[in-house]
Amino acid sequence: MATETKKTKETVSPDSALPSHVISRRLGSVDATAALAGEVAALARGGDVIALGGDLGCGKTTFARAFIRALAALHGEGDAGEEVPSPTFTLVQIYDRSPAPVWHFDLYRVEKPEDAYELGIEEAFESAISLVEWPRKLGHLLPAERLDLDLEFSDGAPPGDASGGPRMATLTGYGAWAARLEGLENR
Ligand SMILES: Nc1ncnc2c1ncn2[C@@H]1O[C@H](COP(=O)(O)OP(=O)(O)OP(=O)(O)O)[C@@H](O)[C@H]1O
Ligand SMILES: [Mg+2]
Repeated sequence: MATETKKTKETVSPDSALPSHVISRRLGSVDATAALAGEVAALARGGDVIALGGDLGCGKTTFARAFIRALAALHGEGDAGEEVPSPTFTLVQIYDRSPAPVWHFDLYRVEKPEDAYELGIEEAFESAISLVEWPRKLGHLLPAERLDLDLEFSDGAPPGDASGGPRMATLTGYGAWAARLEGLENR
């Protein structure tokens, strides 16, 4: 008899031996996504890897843009009004920020993990703050110690909805990010 397999929600997170902590947030609007990005930006440090997971159009770039702007507002380095384009075609965009530069990656077009070396991931993961859209493209090169932010369309918002519909965010912190997430509330 065939074993029935239940399809579980895919997240970017493989099993990890590191301590972890999970927070979830309902994001009722783009403004709520931006507010969460501000809270996360306040906790970020050089060497951080933030993996932005979720389907096409669920708000990964929206989160990254708000994060990059929030860092400028928080620490005064960089221009909070600076344009933050999606790295869909350039694959990476770099911003001067404090406490560390931000490298914003979109790996949708990357074919194999090793192709990311050409984009400078080693330098970014070492000392910058890396915001990574389509992080599973990195396969084994995705660091175990990181923050995963998984976004989903929620409350009946259809896949691909860009009209302002709600999202659910699940944040999973591994290693140092586990303790840092304990300061954020579930809402
Ligand atoms: N709560 C929300 N949070 C974030 N974006 C939202 C929300 N509600 C609606 N949107 C809209 O959804 C769209 C999200 O687009 P965005 O480019 O951020 O998604 P993405 O996940 O980066 O897409 P891609 O997979 O193409 O990179 C934007 O038009 C944004 O205004
Ligand atoms: Mg995007």
